Amino acid sequence: MTYAQIVDGLTRPDVQDIFAEADRVRREQVGDAVHLRGLIEFSNVCGRDCFYCGLRRSNRAVERYSMSIDEIYETAANAARLGYKSLVLQSGESSAYPVADVCRLLERIKRELKVAITLSIGEKTREEYASLKAAGADRYLLRFETSSSRLFAELKPDSSFDERMQCLLWLKELGFQVGSGIMVGLPGQTPEMIADDIMLMKILDLDMIGIGPFIPNPQTPLEGAVSGTLDMTLRAVALIRLVTRNTHIPATTAMGSIDKQGRQRALRCGANVLMPNVTPTRYREHYQLYPGKICIQDKPADCALCISGMVASLGRSIAQDAGHSLKSVGRGASAS
Ligand code: 5AD
Ligand code: FES
Repeated sequence: MTYAQIVDGLTRPDVQDIFAEADRVRREQVGDAVHLRGLIEFSNVCGRDCFYCGLRRSNRAVERYSMSIDEIYETAANAARLGYKSLVLQSGESSAYPVADVCRLLERIKRELKVAITLSIGEKTREEYASLKAAGADRYLLRFETSSSRLFAELKPDSSFDERMQCLLWLKELGFQVGSGIMVGLPGQTPEMIADDIMLMKILDLDMIGIGPFIPNPQTPLEGAVSGTLDMTLRAVALIRLVTRNTHIPATTAMGSIDKQGRQRALRCGANVLMPNVTPTRYREHYQLYPGKICIQDKPADCALCISGMVASLGRSIAQDAGHSLKSVGRGASAS
């Protein structure tokens, strides 16, 4: 697909043909089974001040929490009991947890629960990433948020686009399965920028690509901004599937939060992953990057039931394996 075709797919009035083709490529490349990743939001403490995010450090309205290492383990064990074979540990970006403690937690989870572990804990040093990998982390999620370095600088005043790219390259070098992605509908973001984002995803040869609509948070400087749309987000999902072929693409919580059918629709135009929340209910209301987040009152078992019903209603199945990258197998081997 050319850059011009991507821009066309993001802007022309009707894209039913693109949605249908993305659904076909999804089936051909990654199959009908939907992979589940149980999401543990273990701390909302954050040292950064991103303009879009409700967890930004300047937001005094948030009650901050950090689960203990033991509590994170128990949450993971509960998720494993619910049948999840792949867990995501996510938090704000902070140094509240010594890396050595996280490493011991990872070793215990790997030893006792035998699940795939994805970390989503932000920018770290190369040495820290190396320790986390050695302790058993399989995957890492770090969205680049936008490939426009100007927009990035405007929205993430205390971060650097180049440093984030450096982190992604380290993660790849260290052998993580790497996920990245963007928000769709950021203030000042153009379709051309989203086309650039998709090209960058392709160049980075990502294993996983997570995107969602930008949803303005009233407790942030972007409170008055316009929300991203589900339509544009679905177009991006479909085009990412067509361009990157065999990547894992989640139907994200943000999609489900702006539209009741958001995740279902994403699963029908390219997505093949769901990330059910397994965070203990009492913490959920405090982990709101954006308003209107779904599942705030639900228990892990509620989301498990809801998700299996959703997958069944789409005529799809739930994958029984850990859902590793479909790329690592072929990595280093000759292309065929
Ligand atoms: N709306 C939608 N997504 C958001 N994120 C952060 N804030 C918002 C918001 N207001 C996304 C970012 C981040 C991920 C964990 O959540 O892309 O990487
Ligand atoms: Fe949580 Fe549907 S995924 S209730």
